[in-house]
Amino acid sequence: MPVKGEVPWACAPHTGAKHDIYQRYLERWFPILLAGSNAYPSVTYAEGFSGPGVYKGGEPGSPVIAMKALVTKVPKTKGIARFAFIDDDERCVDMLGTTLTKTFPERPRTDAAMPVKIVKGTCATHLEATLDEMRAWGQPIFANLDSWGNAPVPYRLLRRLAGNISSEVIVTLFPQHFVRFVSDLGEAGDAVFGGDPTWRTVADLAPEAKSRHILTCYRQALRAAGFPYLLDFELIPRKGQPLYLIFGTGHRLGVQKMKDSLWEVDRAQGVGFRDPRDEQAETLFDIDEPQLGPLTRLLTQRLRNSGPVRVEDLRQFALLETVYRPEHVIRALKPLVDRNALSVEGGGALRRTSIVSLVPASAV
Ligand SMILES: C[S@@+](CC[C@H](N)C(=O)[O-])C[C@H]1O[C@@H](n2cnc3c(N)ncnc32)[C@H](O)[C@@H]1O
Repeated sequence: MPVKGEVPWACAPHTGAKHDIYQRYLERWFPILLAGSNAYPSVTYAEGFSGPGVYKGGEPGSPVIAMKALVTKVPKTKGIARFAFIDDDERCVDMLGTTLTKTFPERPRTDAAMPVKIVKGTCATHLEATLDEMRAWGQPIFANLDSWGNAPVPYRLLRRLAGNISSEVIVTLFPQHFVRFVSDLGEAGDAVFGGDPTWRTVADLAPEAKSRHILTCYRQALRAAGFPYLLDFELIPRKGQPLYLIFGTGHRLGVQKMKDSLWEVDRAQGVGFRDPRDEQAETLFDIDEPQLGPLTRLLTQRLRNSGPVRVEDLRQFALLETVYRPEHVIRALKPLVDRNALSVEGGGALRRTSIVSLVPASAV
């Protein structure tokens, strides 16, 4: 892997799962924004850490995945799709140019309908300027900020994206980097968290609480940057370190579509995901029979902090505050009903309209 490593590099298992999520999401994003009933005249897909567009085994990189999502899902006459790719490694920049030409020997759209810029520079110094140059602002932008999980993503850029119309961001973070280098990372470390030094208290925490603290701080930073809806989760390979992805959007529909993409991911490579809020850090590997234990725990926690609540509100909680889907909620509440830990107002079966509360003795 660069800085000194070879280009291209081998595709790690969690990279495959991450790419699957990007692909499934972008195959929804481009058509909704360019060809849906409220389509925009133009959109921009931007990467601050684009890589070379290809892996050692020939697997496509994220820039290729994004372009294919556009080309396969949106008629070429619909709107303008800009692509901005930044990488600070010259070898990646050169290889990305070659890879795109090889993958699309015939330009899938005209220059005017698909302007592409590949720029050598850091995300911090070149992404915003490239978006300015391409006149991307004022129309939706999807920013993929997929560093090795350690490079600073300028907070100012996140704020500007959050304030831009229908714009979204997905950031890769490697919490161990911040855990390990807490004493070496000066102001640049705080800048990643929007200038808030709270993340530094990680140094005083028990080992098992450290990663979770970093993730909580980053989630708070992204919310403070102006993204009202977040979906964050960890991708867990069977071997190796977990990778944290956090998606920020201004629209509930964005969360719903990203969550659909997450649950549809092909888990054949043995990569699972995990809700960073689950105290027991249980990994969900099985897609056909989702393990609902973490959701039952999260719902119990939610019920403990509130009075009686409608199941529909718990469904919204699941959508917006966990990795689970709303349709998982009733099944996750069942074990609580079965052990008489949950009371259903008026009795009867659990429905979306039911009002439920924890039975006091079990609210511990
Ligand atoms: C994880 S790889 C990107 C992979 C790519 N998104 C994909 O999925 O195919 C990270 C890339 O960021 C580049 N990079 C590292 N630090 C950077 C920085 N500060 N600014 C821009 N690019 C950087 C590396 O050269 C590398 O190509």
